[in-house]
Amino acid sequence: MTDMYKEGRKIYDVEETVNPKAIKYTTNAKPKIDPGKKSQLGSGAVKGAGSQTPIESKTLPDIKSVEKSVLQCIIGQDAQVRQIITAIYRAINFKTIKSNVLIIGNSGTGKTETIKQIAKQLHIPYTIEDATKYTQEGYYGADVTDMIYNLLDNTDYDVEKAQNGIIVIDEIDKKAGHEEHDVSGTEVLKSLLKIVEGTKIKISLDEFFEDTVDFDTKNIIIIFLGAFSGLDKIRDKRLNSNPLGFQAQNIAMKEKQKSKFLKQDLVAYGMPEEFVGRIDTIIEMNNLTKEDLSLILKKSKLSIFKKYRSELRKMGISLSYNTKLFECIAERSLALDTGARELSNTVNFIFENILYDILANPGKYKKCTLDLDIVHDNTKYELS
Ligand SMILES: Nc1ncnc2c1ncn2[C@@H]1O[C@H](COP(=O)(O)OP(=O)(O)OP(=O)(O)O)[C@@H](O)[C@H]1O
Ligand SMILES: [Mg+2]
Repeated sequence: MTDMYKEGRKIYDVEETVNPKAIKYTTNAKPKIDPGKKSQLGSGAVKGAGSQTPIESKTLPDIKSVEKSVLQCIIGQDAQVRQIITAIYRAINFKTIKSNVLIIGNSGTGKTETIKQIAKQLHIPYTIEDATKYTQEGYYGADVTDMIYNLLDNTDYDVEKAQNGIIVIDEIDKKAGHEEHDVSGTEVLKSLLKIVEGTKIKISLDEFFEDTVDFDTKNIIIIFLGAFSGLDKIRDKRLNSNPLGFQAQNIAMKEKQKSKFLKQDLVAYGMPEEFVGRIDTIIEMNNLTKEDLSLILKKSKLSIFKKYRSELRKMGISLSYNTKLFECIAERSLALDTGARELSNTVNFIFENILYDILANPGKYKKCTLDLDIVHDNTKYELS
């Protein structure tokens, strides 16, 4: 191995890897840190489920198998899933190519879930941070250093592991359009750039700042998420402003649906240029259709309907229904405009009375038949 491979996360080396599909990376010995000493933090972080497995001497799985596993969970975003996985693999393997990703998509389209699933497959620690909770360093509220602490928290204060983790910054669009020098708006974005660019941040491992380490952010993968509602109007305005003849305009209208967002659209939306300039990949999630929502219920490994079905089965009760039920649930959920998010609410509603009945009469029932109307009236079922 050459020197450039010695620090931090190891990168792909064709000659040394027996299985060309496997990408090997090892980490240096972890520093001795007493996890009991960690600082008290308060912020909107979500614990990374991928942090359980030791990262030492780890082999990154074949990219295709990761894609396949994620697609068993995430429906209707095949191209986007591939783009996100590729961006993460690129960040891990080709450290000289910066890889800051922005994912734009409406609520409940799978932005967060896709990253969680990928991180789980790769055993990479992550933290999901709500950008709206952050203010510029030194002001009241959480600052970007807290993101590092949250990531450390998710690795039981394994600095090496955390330095190779993922920081997901959600609701980034809410930081747009503020006035210059607003400590909670664009100034936060600017202080985030420090992490994005790769810097060493002094981290205290005890309350008295006696035990400190320089936390290197150069290998951290940063993924920004946002709904950016109204960005499509900015894009359309840009497209319409092109001086075109009638015929060309017609073609342009058709193409518009497929037109990508450009960085200039983000700037027009109110994102600072310094920030937008550091984004290397923009990924647009699809809005989920009724068919997608049906498929999530039917096929996805995350389907809440499948979870209920298997729980009932464990209790010895079989579930009987017309498969049109999935469409009915999808239709009702679609009306709320929160994508797949609403599916859980609808399915929980469907099973509310059923669960009560079953729990109130243990061992009494063997079969539960759902009427299609149960989607609107959760008394429409039969237990026998
Ligand atoms: N494409 C999808 N396929 C399968 N399940 C999905 C999909 N999109 C969302 N879900 C499910 O819907 C719920 C919400 O998804 P997720 O948290 O990824 O939404 P989001 O795009 O991050 O939305 P928000 O902007 O509201 O945070 C999760 O339970 C997730 O499993
Ligand atoms: Mg989300």
